[in-house]
Amino acid sequence: MVFQTHKNLSTHIESLKNENLKIGFVPTMGALHAGHISLMKEAAKSNDILVVSIFVNPTQFENANDLNKYPRTVENDTRLIYEHFGETQVVIYTPNVKDIYGDNAVAKSYRYDGLEHVMEGANRPGHFDGVGTILEFLFLKTQPDYAYFGEKDFQQLQIVKKLVEKLQLPIKIIGCPIKRESHGLAMSSRNERLSPNARKEAAFIIESLGKAKAYFNNHSINQTISMVQNLYHENQNLELEYFTIASEETLVPVKRKYRKHTYRAFIVAHIEGVRLIDNMRLSQ
Ligand code: PAJ
Repeated sequence: MVFQTHKNLSTHIESLKNENLKIGFVPTMGALHAGHISLMKEAAKSNDILVVSIFVNPTQFENANDLNKYPRTVENDTRLIYEHFGETQVVIYTPNVKDIYGDNAVAKSYRYDGLEHVMEGANRPGHFDGVGTILEFLFLKTQPDYAYFGEKDFQQLQIVKKLVEKLQLPIKIIGCPIKRESHGLAMSSRNERLSPNARKEAAFIIESLGKAKAYFNNHSINQTISMVQNLYHENQNLELEYFTIASEETLVPVKRKYRKHTYRAFIVAHIEGVRLIDNMRLSQ
């Protein structure tokens, strides 16, 4: 069933809850691809009902151009979900901005114990306030037992875990692995804006992460960062926004290796005016 208003959605969710059905929720901004579908497969496998939201959330975009250019393909998306999962155990929520925000699309302010100050939080001011605002709303309306998020947006995944903890919501957050195109580019709705050639060129991002991982084994953090920066310096097609090595837990960029930490490399690079994000675990 497709719902366009949170009122109708809530009524339906209440009836499912009364039947004691387990709800798995996958929030998305649409233009669905195999990465989104992999999250839905996990949700469908472990729950009675799959709930998917499709909403391009204006308050998490700090750049109006990026918001305007974001692909919107709700009809195709709905068809795709039904093709994969049938209709009977699926609930789709496709609100408009007014249904969520009324006449005032502004974000609330959230604290995530410092997770919000680095990387995407530092480079996209207000982004995680927007993400918190929409997810708090969606979690309250969909009342999931489990909610599924991709490791592609690893910082978002950690922040959502913190959000649920701080709001004391009884929802378990599940992280799912990154789905990639055949040449290694992490799947993203933004990839639709790339020329076929740029898609191939962008495989450089996963290659550079692979090189960083190998190099990190017997070099320092600073040496690894310099090596990656040099790779991008020599590449004419991609522009590096940031490359950071951080502890998975705290997301704090680290300067020295400590044995107990698990490290992850985080990268953002631009090609043809499209901002691409990726990451890879460095230590076992
Ligand atoms: P969106 O970019 O549509 O992504 C929805 C979910 O799909 C996120 O959890 C994201 O990490 C996951 N995802 C995207 N590409 C993936 C890939 N290649 N492999 C695995 N998972 C992938 O993230 C958002 O929307 C929004 O911020 C949202 C959480 C919906 C709040 O508005």
